[in-house]
Amino acid sequence: MKTWSERFEEGLNPFIERFNASISFDFLLLEEDLDGSIAHAQMLGKTGIISPEEAFQIETGLETIRREASQGIFKPDFLDEDVHTAVEKRLTTLLGPLGKKLHTGRSRNDQVGTDLRLWLCRRIDDLDSHLKCLQIALFNKAERNLFTLIPGYTHLQRAQPLSLAHHFLAYIEMIGRDRSRLSDVRERVDICPLGAAALAGTSLPIDRVYTAKKLGFSNIYSNSLDAVSDRDFTVEFTAAASLVMVHLSRLAEEIILWSSEEFSFVSLTDRCSTGSSLMPQKKNPDVPELIRGKSGRVFGHLQGLLTMSKGLPMAYNKDFQEDKEAIFDTYKTVSDCLKAMTILIDEGLDFCEKSLSEAVESDFSTATDVADYLVSKNIPFREAYQIVGRIVRICLSKEILLKDLTLKEWKEIHSCFEKDIFEKLIPANVVAGRISEGGTGFNRVQEQLAKWRNELISPNQ
Ligand code: ARG
Repeated sequence: MKTWSERFEEGLNPFIERFNASISFDFLLLEEDLDGSIAHAQMLGKTGIISPEEAFQIETGLETIRREASQGIFKPDFLDEDVHTAVEKRLTTLLGPLGKKLHTGRSRNDQVGTDLRLWLCRRIDDLDSHLKCLQIALFNKAERNLFTLIPGYTHLQRAQPLSLAHHFLAYIEMIGRDRSRLSDVRERVDICPLGAAALAGTSLPIDRVYTAKKLGFSNIYSNSLDAVSDRDFTVEFTAAASLVMVHLSRLAEEIILWSSEEFSFVSLTDRCSTGSSLMPQKKNPDVPELIRGKSGRVFGHLQGLLTMSKGLPMAYNKDFQEDKEAIFDTYKTVSDCLKAMTILIDEGLDFCEKSLSEAVESDFSTATDVADYLVSKNIPFREAYQIVGRIVRICLSKEILLKDLTLKEWKEIHSCFEKDIFEKLIPANVVAGRISEGGTGFNRVQEQLAKWRNELISPNQ
């Protein structure tokens, strides 16, 4: 029997009944639905719309349902349509006609908006702690690798050597922005629509601020139409989540490249890699590949929500039911990927010191520093740049590196080269010399490590 069945003469077509139902996925909102209903019942009792005794009995009934759900007694049944209807029906079974008073001054339209916002605020808090855990894992790697050098790339061509710590710190920064973005989104999720009723408010003397406060919301919607039809926050959330996935998939891609034989910068530990069913020699980077791959579904949810919302007339439309799976799956995907990436960083990467140092020694990535050397001898940068270009060409034709040139050969190219040019070609000296703020110079990286230690590991010290 539907809550709305009196109006209808015939029952629903069984396929349509299933098609219409959301309980298979929105049962996930049970905790929030119960919290919302308890706050609503307390408000009805406090304002005298129902008696305080009735409110108390409803609250007790709702807590019984919570217990029954935790024991697996109260389960989703698609005949109940959605979680809101299921709870109300169960309450009425438990309390008799009193259960039917719960929905006074409320509609499922403001109810579902309240549940989803409550759920999302809680999940954003949870994502924030996962993001912080990943930052800490990256920080620990960074701290241990201040003096480990790695080639830095632009266009995936060797550019200049870097401190590996600097590389990890870049990701800590990105994730810092993700956290601040999610916290901005949270401010706009943290608004209570309850009391907007179906679309226009109610004639009963409800107290919206009371329920909002009870539920921990910071604010209430000012306009009842907007309250039941605003889904901006779902788009904002999936947009912020998409950027998290962009960052995770960039890091994943680097780990995949680094672990290839071509790079050989890192080998994946047995705990975090998988074998091939056919090729016995293989160790596959499935974990970062999955993280990279899963970004697609989160971007898809963002696109789906934008399309679902566009062109909808005021106020509530059933289209909104489609927001839930997108939000639930976005949360689950991002939180799983964050956990997997944290494990991968913590225990999945063995950096191959030998290949890394061979890599930074065996290229022309100190060429900029030769140009800077000439600049220090008062040669204009553009001219210095041309001179070094010529040197690189000479080396390439002789199949040697810059460090293999003799002082005589340096001098032949330009008289101002002195013996100290050889020190300039040592990658560690090159890195140490990047003294500008935010650069990869060891002292600058140490400053950044101190900043993040303070923020992540030992705040207020
Ligand atoms: N399951 C519905 C949803 O997710 C609940 C609201 C139903 N409201 C309505 N007027 N049919 O949006």
